[in-house]
Amino acid sequence: MALIWRKHLSVGNAMLDFEHKSLIGMVNSIEYAINTKNRSTLFVAIKLFKDRADTHFANEVRFAQALNLSFTQHELAHQHLQKELLHTVGQLAVKVNTWPEYVMDYYPQFLRDWLIEHITDEDMLMKPALQTRDYTFWPGGKDDETNHIAGHTANLYLQL
Ligand SMILES: [Fe+2]
Repeated sequence: MALIWRKHLSVGNAMLDFEHKSLIGMVNSIEYAINTKNRSTLFVAIKLFKDRADTHFANEVRFAQALNLSFTQHELAHQHLQKELLHTVGQLAVKVNTWPEYVMDYYPQFLRDWLIEHITDEDMLMKPALQTRDYTFWPGGKDDETNHIAGHTANLYLQL
């Protein structure tokens, strides 16, 4: 059964909720590729998941800095996943003609568990601080107007 984002998984910010929804969709795609034994789709899906997770982690650091939150434990957990994904993407890129049994056996449950734990255990710690700001708050960079629009765009996606 597909993993579904529900309201209780909201961490109180449009951009972070949007990214979590997106990561959940990608975990479902990886699982589908494994279930249908589609090797090329699996490679693309895991690589995309890795890239989006990297971006998401970088964004979370920005939020933590803007809200003055300690983020050391989060970063350790992020680095662990990034190493694992980098290794797997490397293996899939090199061994193009073999089906990676360990990915098939391990990844669907591993990614589901990781993502739910990431949202409910790690990111929920930021929720009280995030809720002191507007739901579309986005601390992303130099251009405040662009950042505000990014937050609203995420909000629109969430309403779809
Ligand atoms: Fe997150």
